[in-house]
Amino acid sequence: MNKEWNLPNLKSAQKRSQDETTIERSLFEIPESYLTIGQDKTYYIRTYGCQANERDSETIRGILEKMSFTQVFEIDKADVIVLNTCAIRENAENKVFGEIGNVKVIKQLNPDVLFMVGGCMTQEEGVVNRILSTYHQVDVLFGTHNIHRIPQLLIQAYFNKERVVEVFSKEGEIYENLPVSRNNKSKAWVNIMYGCDKFCTYCIVPYTRGKERSRLKEDILSEIDDLVQKDFKEITLLGQNVNAYGKDLGVTFDFADLLESVAQKDIPRVRFMTSHPWDFTDKLIKVIAKYKNVMPFIHLPLQSGNNEILKIMGRRYTKEAYMEIYHKLKARIPHIALSTDIIVGFPNETESQFCETLDMIDICQFDNVYSFIYSAREKTPAASMIDNVSKQEKEDRLQRLNKQIGKYALMHNLAMVGQTVLVLVDGPSKKNPLIFSGYTETNKLVNFSPVNECIGKIVSVEITSAKTWTLQGKQV
Ligand code: SAH
Ligand code: SF4
Ligand code: F3S
Repeated sequence: MNKEWNLPNLKSAQKRSQDETTIERSLFEIPESYLTIGQDKTYYIRTYGCQANERDSETIRGILEKMSFTQVFEIDKADVIVLNTCAIRENAENKVFGEIGNVKVIKQLNPDVLFMVGGCMTQEEGVVNRILSTYHQVDVLFGTHNIHRIPQLLIQAYFNKERVVEVFSKEGEIYENLPVSRNNKSKAWVNIMYGCDKFCTYCIVPYTRGKERSRLKEDILSEIDDLVQKDFKEITLLGQNVNAYGKDLGVTFDFADLLESVAQKDIPRVRFMTSHPWDFTDKLIKVIAKYKNVMPFIHLPLQSGNNEILKIMGRRYTKEAYMEIYHKLKARIPHIALSTDIIVGFPNETESQFCETLDMIDICQFDNVYSFIYSAREKTPAASMIDNVSKQEKEDRLQRLNKQIGKYALMHNLAMVGQTVLVLVDGPSKKNPLIFSGYTETNKLVNFSPVNECIGKIVSVEITSAKTWTLQGKQV
């Protein structure tokens, strides 16, 4: 193997020290002569996984556009192909391997295409070894900690015609001042922190993203000032556990304070993602209730309705503690919509433990639930637990769960028929260019017939009918 490669190592990625996070403000540079390297050339990027990855892809786009590449949306028309990958479950990884396979054909037709793979999957040694031994069409492998190095890696692969592998398995720094090319002109993702220190026993994220580290409030607020000036309508504050914001900085300014400072800006809609039930404070609930522009929608992952499973998952709350937050939120903000994540078929989950999860769905009546079958992830503690639940049993539980979920989603949507609600308009819907779509304050998807040019605006829409996952309406 090439000695200059930096290969990932999940064991070192797991380490956490007391060292302070370094903030790098001027590490990003593109040698002058390479600023025009992409002139007359195109790039294609495909993003898998969560909003953190979506936001990273906006940085990758910003970097490639600084190098004068132009984005295309058909993979076989591109000179540079980038896949920003997700490692959260095996089926997410299989999708990526399928796409890597497709690029082999593209490269056979055009060997000059440069193929880069990055994101959470390349932080796993198993994945990198598999790509290195089997998928020779991949030219550059980079990780989540060195996106700022893309110009150098690209140039090295391009001019030396060699494979380049650079993945760092470390706690991670914070990089400010990287270029960004945002996907959407009215909705923006803003990172408030990176990484995760919760180490839920099933989850790969703390290994692929490094330690929990918060951006300085000055940096966050100045990014938001810039977005306000550019007339953005919605900001989503991003972190794996936004409620832990500031803890690593050793200051008293916490997530509730940050949310309040953001809400005081002239921005119509503020959201945040993801809240862990741990660290969800009364102070935070107060801020959500106090500001009209903090949207009445919260994603609060439950994972399981059984305390024993929650404990083995390392979630650090009980279902009773979850219910306490739930009731406080519903009491302070009666119109609030809630969504959650559920994992079924965690190792050795019994039928009666699963039924407790179904009970929680009945009690909480979530507006939306993201449901997953447990997937063993390389080197996580749960992966070494012996599992006596069959694949078929897990699939059966998922189906039963989904039926229950759909029932409540439809119930909430039906209750909105006849109401007039505010919708931030994304643009023409996927299926019909004459119908526009957008989201309500409670994060419900609405398809409606527009009466004027309203993309990127907040308009009133009367809801005329409802399906389980969409609302139909007309602009008023
Ligand atoms: N930080 C967020 C979740 C990020 S991952 C939180 O803790 O709430 C998004 C969701 O993927 C998780 O909430 C969980 O439901 C699911 N997930 C994570 N690891 C998984 C695994 N190994 N198998 C199945 N689902 C998983
Ligand atoms: Fe994964 Fe748990 Fe961290 Fe969420 S809190 S990213 S589920 S380890
Ligand atoms: Fe996937 Fe990484 Fe996000 S594993 S869910 S892209 S943090």
